[in-house]
Amino acid sequence: MNKSKILVTGGTGYIGSHTIVELQALGFEVIVIDSLKNSFAGVLNQVEKISGIKPTFYEFDLCDKSALDNFFYREPNIDAIIHFAALKAVGESVDNPLLYYKNNILSLINLLDAMIKFNLKNIVFSSSCTVYGQPDVLPVSEQSPMKKAESPYGQTKQMAEQILSDVVKSAGINVIALRYFNPIGAHDSSLIGEFPIGAPNNLVPMITQTAMGIREKLMVFGDDYNTKDGSCVRDYIHVVDIAKAHVIAIERLLKKNNKSPFEVFNLGTGNGFTVLETIKTFEKVSNTKLNYEITSRRNGDVEKVFADTNLANKELGWKAERDLENMLLTAWNWQIKLKDLKLN
Ligand code: UD1
Repeated sequence: MNKSKILVTGGTGYIGSHTIVELQALGFEVIVIDSLKNSFAGVLNQVEKISGIKPTFYEFDLCDKSALDNFFYREPNIDAIIHFAALKAVGESVDNPLLYYKNNILSLINLLDAMIKFNLKNIVFSSSCTVYGQPDVLPVSEQSPMKKAESPYGQTKQMAEQILSDVVKSAGINVIALRYFNPIGAHDSSLIGEFPIGAPNNLVPMITQTAMGIREKLMVFGDDYNTKDGSCVRDYIHVVDIAKAHVIAIERLLKKNNKSPFEVFNLGTGNGFTVLETIKTFEKVSNTKLNYEITSRRNGDVEKVFADTNLANKELGWKAERDLENMLLTAWNWQIKLKDLKLN
């Protein structure tokens, strides 16, 4: 039985909760920190229903440096950290950039300070394909240049990677930054999934809530892009595939198999789908008709992005396994279950 202790920040969130389940399945002990600003503690009861184990939970904000120090005094034997905790709504970051810089950057700096103070060496960082901006060449590989970020949210991910890559040089810390493309879908059990508070920003929760009748209509942001049907192209990837990559990254760090102290991997399927293709696939797997309307472009959207996944396939031995149909079907099953769920 593997007993390494993993700290998961943002563990009650969407990707965090799925990652906990995969870590527990391999015998890792999980400790969670979350501010519950955008999530519910009840998610950990759902995790327990899947794995039989409820992770130890600490509720505080990583921007609170003294709370973080107290935490590490109480939990001195952490082997590695997965840092998910961050704000991620692109539009909100445009309206309130300081909130994003403060929250996403200060929390990372506090965490790195604490890692140095308490001599912790391993961290997996939740990055995003947003760091590429609109790439000139597709598929986009880890070597592609970072173009100007389209939003303060994207800027915080670029800055965070920069901070991490500087700190490894001076502090002897090992980092794996995982750049997610568009995580969607839910656990097969339908016990955990994406749980946006208020109106969702992202496409798939908007689709499932519209199909459920919670929203009247889905707005498709633009059909005049240079793509096969004019709507934007994204590389959607199942959240469980993403979660599994985190476990592999943690094992890589713990076994010291990393090839350099700062590694970066794309997590995508390598396939791009348009918004309209995604809608059609959803209609097929859910056997429902979606009420949607084409509207104008959304500010800050990139036209097209999908991943070159060769490096993750080769170096991590990881490959996304689920297709778009499975992603949308599990998202739909989760949406159906949600109405009976009490998370708070
Ligand atoms: C963006 C970021 C991603 C980040 C995520 C967090 C980029 C390239 N991607 O994802 O890194 O993790 O935000 O929120 O910066 N759409 C509609 N109608 C809707 C909602 C979305 O048509 O109601 C379209 C969008 O225009 C886009 C696609 O669906 O073309 C996906 O949008 P969304 O799910 O919001 O994700 P991204 O913006 O790609």
